[in-house]
Amino acid sequence: MTNDYQYSTGTKQYAETVDTSPYNAYYERPAMLSLLPNLQGKHVLDVGCGNGWYCDYFLSQGATVTSFDRDQTFVEYTKNRVGTAAKVMRANLAEPLTFVKDNSIDVIVAPLVMHYVEEWLGPFKEFRRVLKTDGLLLFSTHHPFMDWKLFDLKNYFEIRFLEDEWKIGKVYFYRRPLTQISADLEAAGFVIERILEPPITDDFREAKPSHVEKLENNPWFIFFRARLA
Ligand SMILES: C[S@@+](CC[C@H](N)C(=O)[O-])C[C@H]1O[C@@H](n2cnc3c(N)ncnc32)[C@H](O)[C@@H]1O
Repeated sequence: MTNDYQYSTGTKQYAETVDTSPYNAYYERPAMLSLLPNLQGKHVLDVGCGNGWYCDYFLSQGATVTSFDRDQTFVEYTKNRVGTAAKVMRANLAEPLTFVKDNSIDVIVAPLVMHYVEEWLGPFKEFRRVLKTDGLLLFSTHHPFMDWKLFDLKNYFEIRFLEDEWKIGKVYFYRRPLTQISADLEAAGFVIERILEPPITDDFREAKPSHVEKLENNPWFIFFRARLA
């Protein structure tokens, strides 16, 4: 399979359960929020908007928001959630973001979406083009160590297309080594300001006690905060 993304069947189920899924609600989202600057009056580009939770949050913080997703079903979920308060559209991160002007965005937030795209340099260059000079790029993705371990991969350094089976059905994504992520960011003109392997939250401990030991010993997601060099 060579397409650069898909949940095979579970879009609706994902959209309707993600806000209470402990890995999202009590692990990924608190970590991402901890990296955000004050958003009052800022223009945020919300990449891979899913069911619109992040879009809604950015609006609540006083931001102007442009959200996009490759999947029309997710676009509709976001539109239903926020109405006309944000610009919400269908677009593919793997293609030029022609609907976003040069030098117009203060903060790009891409939560758990980069790993659905095979090639990251192109998207990073687009992020560079649309960001203001003092802008910020934030993204979270599967931790390269975690996928390497879970899939028992022989070669850590390979970029691999992987298939997994989640509760929502089959999912497909790419994993890549840390050094490739860093090299692509640098080649696109970014410097990494912070890497975060998030701590487990008290809410997660309460919601999913059986997974606490796993997350205390293994980094599940990894977060990058980068600025233009
Ligand atoms: C794991 S979900 C995360 C959704 C949301 N960011 C959140 O954290 O709740 C991944 C999202 O990325 C979207 N996506 C996947 N590949 C994409 C692409 N190439 N361009 C834009 N969106 C994409 C999916 O449709 C899905 O909504």
